[in-house]
Amino acid sequence: MNKSSSVVEIAAGDNSTSAFDVEKIRADFPILSQKIYDGKPLVYLDNGASAQKPRQVIDAMSDLYETRYSNVHRGVHWTSQQSTNAYEAGRQKAGAFLNAASDNEIIFTSGATEAINLVAASWGRANLKAGDEVILTHMEHHSNIVPWQLLRQEKDIVIKVVPIDDDGNFLFDEFEKLLTDKTKMVAVTHVSNALGTIVPVADVIKAAHAKGALVLLDGCQAVPHQSVDVQALGADFYVFSGHKLYGPTGIGILWGREDILNAMPPYQGGGEMIASVTFEKTTFQKAPHRFEAGTPAIAEVVGLGAAIDYVNAIGLDNIAAHEHDVLQYATERLQAMDGVTIIGNAREKAAIVSFVLEDIHPHDVGTFIDRAGVAVRVGHHCAQPVMDRFGVAATARASFGLYNTRAEVDTLVDALEETRKFFS
Ligand code: ALA
Repeated sequence: MNKSSSVVEIAAGDNSTSAFDVEKIRADFPILSQKIYDGKPLVYLDNGASAQKPRQVIDAMSDLYETRYSNVHRGVHWTSQQSTNAYEAGRQKAGAFLNAASDNEIIFTSGATEAINLVAASWGRANLKAGDEVILTHMEHHSNIVPWQLLRQEKDIVIKVVPIDDDGNFLFDEFEKLLTDKTKMVAVTHVSNALGTIVPVADVIKAAHAKGALVLLDGCQAVPHQSVDVQALGADFYVFSGHKLYGPTGIGILWGREDILNAMPPYQGGGEMIASVTFEKTTFQKAPHRFEAGTPAIAEVVGLGAAIDYVNAIGLDNIAAHEHDVLQYATERLQAMDGVTIIGNAREKAAIVSFVLEDIHPHDVGTFIDRAGVAVRVGHHCAQPVMDRFGVAATARASFGLYNTRAEVDTLVDALEETRKFFS
């Protein structure tokens, strides 16, 4: 493993802005040095869908497989002990990353989608009855809408939706009006994947708790861009996916307050989640193992741990400052273009700019600029209600990560200008 030129080592212990060297960071991501389409640099602006992986994450996973891989929690042999230690170290890293009160509050799932489904199915089935209310926002990802709708089919609960304004701001007054004594869960995104809006989640939690409701935050688009302290927020559940945090696919985190988790029934049955099994009766482990049936994603947990180490070493405040600069620059440059409308101009935004080009379908935009080497996501971004809210079927979305630069924004804008010329 050659980590001698790694930004992690340079930045470790020094989180001042001067430690943020974007070129050194880029050198950690092998894919970013590739040329595509006859020598065009890859300009990767689809981090909201999935971020690229630094060498440190790739190496950590390879190293596990090459030197000490085994199943976890099941073996007395050396490899199993080593893998179990590496796996549980991943849990500690995730716990520290969110400032969980205990590592027992960290449950590994396949991603944020499974984490929300777990809460809706386990907590929801056990605690909700007909007429109880769950509050969502108009800008939720489908993964924070559909699990609650599935629960509604079963339990006849009521789903209420907090509106947003024409800029994509969360309307706090409207939210407060929706809260009633029947509100049992407020499940909201921390940062909108389609608009970039940052929701004032600390205030949401205070208001929800005043009514006795729990709060689940979907942090997928938040954790790569800002530090999160679940205890300071006072949240009840927080979920995110590893692959958007420069970690591998197939791994995500459900954080929940330990007392709540231990009162929830299992979500899936299988090995390792039990205390004892007979054909007459099975008893269950406490959290987190109660919710981790079967062989888990061992190497992916190790990779996620390496990704957490990576962003911690650079410093989330440094990352946020850099991305804010890139976002501001992109916003200004897009606003200055003829025929471009930005969808989502909330007061507080993180690293995402969605836009449409007049008279050109976003899929044409995405396909055209792809030939210039620029990767953006086009479509409804798994957030169809927010597209409906703005009267568009789809947008093009540039979503930035810690390795993006102003020069890449210039490439995006040049490619969009070419797109406009071609279609006019
Ligand atoms: N939820 C991911 C996105 O926003 C896939 O693109």
